[in-house]
Amino acid sequence: MTQTITVIRGDGIGPEIMAATLHVLDAMKLDLAYEEADAGMVALEKHGDLLPQATLDSIKRNKIALKAPLTTPVGEGFTSINVTLRRIFDLYANVRPAHSFPNTKSRFPSGIDIITVRENTEGAYMSDGQAVSEDGETATLVQKVTHKGSERIVRYAFEMARKIGRKKVTVVHKANIMKSTSGLFLKTARQVAAQYPDIECNEMIVDNTCMQLVMKPEQFDVIVTTNLFGDIISDLCAGLVGGLGLAPGANIGEHGAIFEAVHGSAPDIAGKGIANPCALLLAAGQMLDHLGMPDQAARLRNAIIATLEAKDDLTPDLGGSGTTTSFAEAITRRL
Ligand code: NAI
Repeated sequence: MTQTITVIRGDGIGPEIMAATLHVLDAMKLDLAYEEADAGMVALEKHGDLLPQATLDSIKRNKIALKAPLTTPVGEGFTSINVTLRRIFDLYANVRPAHSFPNTKSRFPSGIDIITVRENTEGAYMSDGQAVSEDGETATLVQKVTHKGSERIVRYAFEMARKIGRKKVTVVHKANIMKSTSGLFLKTARQVAAQYPDIECNEMIVDNTCMQLVMKPEQFDVIVTTNLFGDIISDLCAGLVGGLGLAPGANIGEHGAIFEAVHGSAPDIAGKGIANPCALLLAAGQMLDHLGMPDQAARLRNAIIATLEAKDDLTPDLGGSGTTTSFAEAITRRL
C-alpha cells in the first residue's frame, strides 16, 4: 500500500535539501506519495500562521512527516514550531543516531555507532516550569519527571535495541544529586531493564558520560536519558562524528513521527546551492526504518557512505566543491 508522507520544505536551505532528498527517494522507486504542507516563515508569509491547521491535519492524517528546518522568528513572542509539534503530537522519543562516516572532518572517522534516545516531553524543558520573580532577581525552574514518561522512553530504547539487534543500553542520569527527578527516572529504568535480560544495561552519571564519550566513545551503543541531558549528549555525539551536516533526528510518538535534520535553516548559505543534504537524507533513512523498510534504509545509508568514501561531489562543508544537487546525484548513482 502506498504510504503518504507529509513533506515540509521549510525555510532557508530547507527547500534545497528537501528537493535533493526527494530526488534520491524517487530514484529508489519506493511506494511513497508526498503531501506538501507549509510551516515556518514561508507559512507565515503565505497563510499568516507559522504552523497552519492544514499542516497539522496533514500530519494527523498521514502520521509520518519529513521536515526540513524551520526558522522561528526571534523575540516576537513566537514559540518554537518544533517544540509545538512535539507537544501537539506527543512525540516523546527523540532518536538521534551518530555514526562514523569516512572523509568527514570528524575526530572519529570510524568506530562510532551510537543512538541517543532522549525523552522529548518532560524535564527541564517544560515552559510552564519556568519563572522569574517580579523584581527580576530570582529565576526558578520546576522539572517534572513522571514514572509514565520515564517508563515509555526507556521501554522505547530497549524495544528499539532488541528490534535492530543492539546489544547494550546505557541509562544516563544524575540521580546522586537530583534525587527526585533523576532518581525516579533511574528507578523506573531499572524496572524496565529487568524485563530485557537479552540486552546488557549499564548506568552512568551524566558528567562521567560526557568525559567517556570524548575519550572512549566506542564503548557506547544505545543511550537513553532525560530531556536536557539527551539534548546535550546527542549534540556531543554529532560533534564526534563530523558535526551537524551529518546529524539526523526522529521525533516519535504513539500516533505520529516527524523525521528531520538536526541543523537549522542556515540562512548564511541559503539559496547558494551548497547545503549538505546528508542530514535530511539520513533522516529519510530513519523514516524508512520506521516504515518497516530496513533494507531500503540500509541501501540509502550505504549509498551515502560510498559517496563519502569516493569523495564524489561532496559539498564545501565536507571539503568538496560539489553542490547540493550534484552531491545528491552522486548518491543516486550509488544506490
Ligand atoms: P544552523 O544549523 O542553521 O547553522 C549553523 C551553521 O551550520 C551555519 O554556518 C550553517 O551554514 C551551517 N550549516 C547548517 N546546516 C548545514 C548544511 N546542511 N550544510 C552545510 N552547512 C550547514 O543554526 P543557526 O544559524 O543557529 O540557526 C538558523 C535558523 O535555524 C534559526 O532561525 C533557528 O531557529 C533555526 N533552527 C531550526 C531547527 C529546526 O527546524 N529543526 C533547528 C535549529 C535551528
